[in-house]
Amino acid sequence: MTPFPAPSDHRARLDGRVALVTGAGAGLGRAYALALAARGADVAIHDIDAKSAAETARLCRALGRRAWSDGYDVANVAEVRRALAALVRTAGGLDIVVNNAGIDEAKTTPEIDERAFDRMMAVHVKGTFFVAQAAIAPMRARGGGRIINISSINGMIADRTDPHYNAAKAAILGITRALARELAPWNILVNAVAPGHVVTDATRARGEARMREVSRERIPLRRYAMPEEIAHTVCFLAGPESAFVTGQVLSPNGGEAIVGY
Ligand SMILES: NC(=O)c1ccc[n+]([C@@H]2O[C@H](COP(=O)([O-])OP(=O)(O)OC[C@H]3O[C@@H](n4cnc5c(N)ncnc54)[C@H](O)[C@@H]3O)[C@@H](O)[C@H]2O)c1
Repeated sequence: MTPFPAPSDHRARLDGRVALVTGAGAGLGRAYALALAARGADVAIHDIDAKSAAETARLCRALGRRAWSDGYDVANVAEVRRALAALVRTAGGLDIVVNNAGIDEAKTTPEIDERAFDRMMAVHVKGTFFVAQAAIAPMRARGGGRIINISSINGMIADRTDPHYNAAKAAILGITRALARELAPWNILVNAVAPGHVVTDATRARGEARMREVSRERIPLRRYAMPEEIAHTVCFLAGPESAFVTGQVLSPNGGEAIVGY
């Protein structure tokens, strides 16, 4: 006997919603796009890599949804405005934005030059802000919407490397709170997801031994998350079950942020 209903019994449907996921050509972004499509949403996949974005769109269409792809850099404000306007024209509206596009590079402070610092801020902070800004008018036209900003556990606790990534992910939490307050009168809810360690191609490439060590030493649940588990959190914030949740940070991290390391 299972103590909880099977997931399919209680998953909120997103039929008729149009969702945009940035950086959805690969990794977690692709998992978010597929999870939103599986719940009924039509999905736009925007990524700097147009080819991988088109492949994610194909996978979403295979689930029976409408899906569109576009290739551009989220740090380019003119391109962000062009792409969101084109999406709204094609899809007929916009209800959900997942600001997921991101980079990291495992650099220590002495290794970070001005160019690397500016790029980290541009992709995460500028990208998140201007995609959200371009989504306001179409969301108001639909009577509300959801903006879900992808931060990281490293926006809350320190890692050994990438201080500029930590700073950018913390800035995303600040943007989330400020926009949540400003946009609440229009029923646009703004929240952040701050994932802990996730099984991805990048973490697999660092080796099974490393994953076992991190799991044992830092994570009370003693394992990494699967991308689909982070996608459940994103879908909760995109759906009707989170209608009274705004300005919050949900951090699926297996308990890592409780203990620190
Ligand atoms: N993987 C993890 O363990 C983890 C943990 C916490 C937070 N995150 C965050 O989740 C997000 C996705 O991470 P991931 O591991 O799937 O990364 P990934 O590198 O596998 O995928 C990132 C995607 O974003 C795209 N992208 C990069 N720069 C872009 C830009 N300027 N404009 C548009 N698209 C761009 C890439 O082409 C790629 O498809 C990132 O914001 C990352 O910081 C990841």
